[in-house]
Amino acid sequence: MIRKSYLFFVVLLAAACHDLPPIPPPAPTPYLFESPPNFPPFFDPADNPTTLEGIALGRKLFYDPILSGDNTIACADCHRQENAFTDPRQFSIGIDGLPGKRNSMSLANIAWQNRLFWDGRALGLEDQALRPVRDVIEMHETLDNAVAEIQANPEYTDMFWRAFGTEKVDSALVAKALSQFERTFVSFNSKYDRWKNGTDSLNKSEMIGMQLFSDNTRGGCAMCHSFGAIFSDFLFRNNGLDSLPTDPGRFTVSGTLSETGAFKTPSMRNVEYTAPYMHDGRFATLEAVMDFYNTGFHLGPYTDPFMHTLVKGRLSSKDKKDIISFLKTLSEPEFLTNPAFKKPD
Ligand code: HEC
Ligand code: HEC
Repeated sequence: MIRKSYLFFVVLLAAACHDLPPIPPPAPTPYLFESPPNFPPFFDPADNPTTLEGIALGRKLFYDPILSGDNTIACADCHRQENAFTDPRQFSIGIDGLPGKRNSMSLANIAWQNRLFWDGRALGLEDQALRPVRDVIEMHETLDNAVAEIQANPEYTDMFWRAFGTEKVDSALVAKALSQFERTFVSFNSKYDRWKNGTDSLNKSEMIGMQLFSDNTRGGCAMCHSFGAIFSDFLFRNNGLDSLPTDPGRFTVSGTLSETGAFKTPSMRNVEYTAPYMHDGRFATLEAVMDFYNTGFHLGPYTDPFMHTLVKGRLSSKDKKDIISFLKTLSEPEFLTNPAFKKPD
């Protein structure tokens, strides 16, 4: 008799539990972007709003080698915070010990860009995020494997639930979380910015360098590295590294012959920390870059028309030093140590 009522009770309880609606996740907390007044609007896709929970998940994934084939390489290995999220090696080494063909890129202010990679082949961060995972040289992993490994980790399923309201991991959500974390890499608190808002001053060399940078007949830099906010026009140009480029660059994506050897104009922010320079990391120092722009550039058939307007040898060694002094005013040391970007505990 006792046993029977006990059973009845268990059945009742089970039925009651069954009827309970699933526990809804708490609503994720919207992240408030700090966008500087003179910056253009950034790319903020409506189907992937940035939230604190999404950022936390993306941050864990960014530092986790779980996304690579043999679980040895994370995004952060080739995008290092102390180098403004690029790689100090000329070519990053992938999981099989093989070097890639291009230099890694800084992820500072990446929220303002929608054509990613040196040749712009990815359209937006969400589109870009999983390509290194599949890349045979970089992380060499199948998305199914990566997703299965993440799915098997309860710490991750809990974070997916908090960020996206589901414990079911899929690759699109992995890409969304990585993108949310990357969008927070904002850098606009340099000496130059403080000078602009009147709270710091530039010295004489920095001021002269800024003028040379912007003067089309002198430095000529601002023709492509647009003066003001991010210091890039984000267009694809051949700046005359070689007469005949070995890497076809943008041509591979657009099929336009005149874009042979054209690469995305990089931002000048934090350039002091992002050596080596150019898509193939051929220059180790800013001094070498300045020598290239003063005398070393080639006017080949695909070289950008703006480069043809620059006179070789136009800059004195003092001019070159002044331009470098100005470039260094675009550095933000705090960006390299911001605890919010570090590997999570
Ligand atoms: C083995 C090194 C390596 C790893 C690992 C790696 N990257 Fe990269 N990353 C690169 C290189 C090299 C490029 C430039 C490649 C090109 O243009 O063809 C790049 C480009 C990018 C860009 C484009 C930046 C721009 O300005 O257009 C983004 C964003 C990026 N990586 C994010 C990631 C994320 C997220 C991960 C992890 C899922 C990751 N990377 C893993 C080396 C790496
Ligand atoms: C015709 C457009 C153009 C002009 C003019 C120009 N640049 Fe560039 N710059 C580019 C492009 C495009 C790249 C990337 C080229 C590549 O990697 O193949 C680049 C790359 C760089 C890099 C390397 C950045 C990195 O992250 O690797 C630096 C530094 C640089 N330019 C500084 C300058 C300075 C200083 C001047 C003026 C003296 C200048 N540029 C003039 C278009 C231009």
